[in-house]
Amino acid sequence: MPIDEEATVPSTDHAVERAATGPASAPGGDTAGRFAALTADLGILYGGDYNPEQWDRATWRDDVRLMGEAGVNLVTVGVFSWARYEPRPGVRDFDWLDEVLDLLHAGGIAVDLATPTASPPPWLGRLHPDTLPVDADGVRLVAGSRNQFSPASRVYRQHALAITRDLVARYADHPGVRMWHVGNELGQICYGDESAAEFRRWLRARYGTIGALNEAWATTVWSQRYADFAEILPPRRMPYHVNPSQALDFRRYSSDQLRTLYREQREAIRAVDASRPVTTNLMGFFALADYWSWAGELDVIADDAYPDPGDPRAPADAALTCDLMRSLGGGAPWMLMEAAVGAVSWRDHNLPKSPERSRLEAVQAVARGADGVCYFQWRAARAGAERFHSAMLPHAGADTRVHDGVRRVGGDLARLRGVVGERVAARVAMLFDWESWWAAEEQAGPTRRLRTLDQLRAWYRVLWDAGVAVDLARPDADLTGYDVILVPQSYLLPTGAATALTEAVARGASVVVGPFTGVADENAHVRTGRFPVLLRDLLGVSGEEWVPLPDDGVPLVLDERWPGAGGRGVPDAGGVGGAAGPRASVLGELLRADGATVLATFADGHLAGGAAVTRVVRGAGVVWYVGTVLPEPLLRDVLVEALDRAAVSGAIEGTSGASGVEAIHRGDTLFVLNHSSESVQVRLDTPAVDLLSGLTWTDVVVVPGGDAVALVPPPA
Ligand code: GLA
Repeated sequence: MPIDEEATVPSTDHAVERAATGPASAPGGDTAGRFAALTADLGILYGGDYNPEQWDRATWRDDVRLMGEAGVNLVTVGVFSWARYEPRPGVRDFDWLDEVLDLLHAGGIAVDLATPTASPPPWLGRLHPDTLPVDADGVRLVAGSRNQFSPASRVYRQHALAITRDLVARYADHPGVRMWHVGNELGQICYGDESAAEFRRWLRARYGTIGALNEAWATTVWSQRYADFAEILPPRRMPYHVNPSQALDFRRYSSDQLRTLYREQREAIRAVDASRPVTTNLMGFFALADYWSWAGELDVIADDAYPDPGDPRAPADAALTCDLMRSLGGGAPWMLMEAAVGAVSWRDHNLPKSPERSRLEAVQAVARGADGVCYFQWRAARAGAERFHSAMLPHAGADTRVHDGVRRVGGDLARLRGVVGERVAARVAMLFDWESWWAAEEQAGPTRRLRTLDQLRAWYRVLWDAGVAVDLARPDADLTGYDVILVPQSYLLPTGAATALTEAVARGASVVVGPFTGVADENAHVRTGRFPVLLRDLLGVSGEEWVPLPDDGVPLVLDERWPGAGGRGVPDAGGVGGAAGPRASVLGELLRADGATVLATFADGHLAGGAAVTRVVRGAGVVWYVGTVLPEPLLRDVLVEALDRAAVSGAIEGTSGASGVEAIHRGDTLFVLNHSSESVQVRLDTPAVDLLSGLTWTDVVVVPGGDAVALVPPPA
């Protein structure tokens, strides 16, 4: 159907958008109910992206048979099918898809049908060059790969909506279609003229007047004062550092613009289908979209995750991403939408992933709240850019180690069906916020080595090792349910967050705050006064200088009240304070204790004698300030003390054997995953049955290296 390019898509109404954004809502009520209805019917979703347009009809039949044999119950179809559906502008060719969907349905495989909007056909860019994205250097990107669209382009959006509407109209009643999938990994950014115009509209909606914008962007600095919104551009290539407030707003705008694309297509689906879940695949800690502001738009949080098999920290980092996904949905079940069965093909050097490791990652996602585990992709491509990416069905076919592993996981997920809908209860919250991350990563500051995600991951690993469940929370979230609140680094701290932390401490919570927190306001302007301005009363300590540390760090002297076991750090007992002792790294702060106990001081250098770590008791609550980057054992001491004070313990009492053991409860099920290669033993208080092996264990359970157990009480 030809489309009216002038009429079908309104410009984004950013004023309405921002008003509608509000605090993060999460899938819940009706929306989570749509996904729950699906998993109640199918159990844990298992499958992957399926690209039938790359294969002939005989292969489709083989695929459906093999999917059934592997326990697959859901495939995502049509993610990159636009050029096949619409070979020429306005033409529609869906007949082949009719056949594919009928075959899948007959084979008992449900379909997550994608809007094909991630990769427009080449004719779109040829006929409408303005639909193509422009990078910060002004280079217009071209067709020949994928993702070649500008999220702001009205013409692109009109065409995307037109194909979406026709697809949905045709398949909304197909019994095999059980879920909708908007686009793919929405993550584009564009600096072109149309994006500039949309950015200006967004800024008008945010600030109202150019005077308010000048104020928020502090344009008195470097003669940047704007007389009119028309003068404003995205932060394209500039002679020197970009205005940090402008950069932050462009990030916000870009995230909102992408979310608009999602909303438009979701609404086109909703107009026809009120009952099936709609989602899109997020990308973990992805820098270009503030998923807190997106979460409420998705019926189920879905994630693509590709932990690097070569990275020893990957299991803990992957767990953190799982916890983020669960937290985005307010604790509701989420789904792992894409993962790699084996190696990916997009790193420089793609280490393999063993079937055991792949299985552990699947169990990990379920243990941490996922009710779906899917992969990119079902059948390995023989051509195209991803021909060397692993798949559930490798080039070599079904008689392979990889595919045996896939079948095994299919069986495991069926055995875990009882956890569907169950939740993970966490008493610890860790604050994380995209806006703060964005602002902290801007050019020009004390150091570029203090990275928000590094801090988050380092703090998280301590909890992961201890088997303590953690939720992620945005800084203005309701924290009333948490007994321990960790703030590894929150550069932009909203006023509400300071209030929430103060209230938490008043009711007895442990709060630990990391360095370079609460530095700036929502415009990325430094809050003046002794820092952290909003938290200094709570912390009982305040600072006046941020001090990057030399490359080899600075030795720390630990007070005798240091929380570590066995006097590890006490100067006389532990011999610290010299070159061999623990060293702070990256950044320190010139602090003054205003009531807090100083637990560690810098031994020399610019900060010699100054406080590095403090603790203060506030009624029933306790607050620690870690004004530097601690080596892992010392960070562990502090965080473990915070957990102990709040009587928060891990899911298991510890293991005899190797480290690298992950433990978490989901509902009544205790998952223990052994990421090491050594067998471990875990003590049990009561007998338990392992859902995965069917074995019953009494006093102790043995988990071989690379294996997992999912323990439930034995049947009465
Ligand atoms: C992402 C994309 C897929 C594919 C994989 C490869 O998940 O959504 O289309 O490119 O990466 O790892």
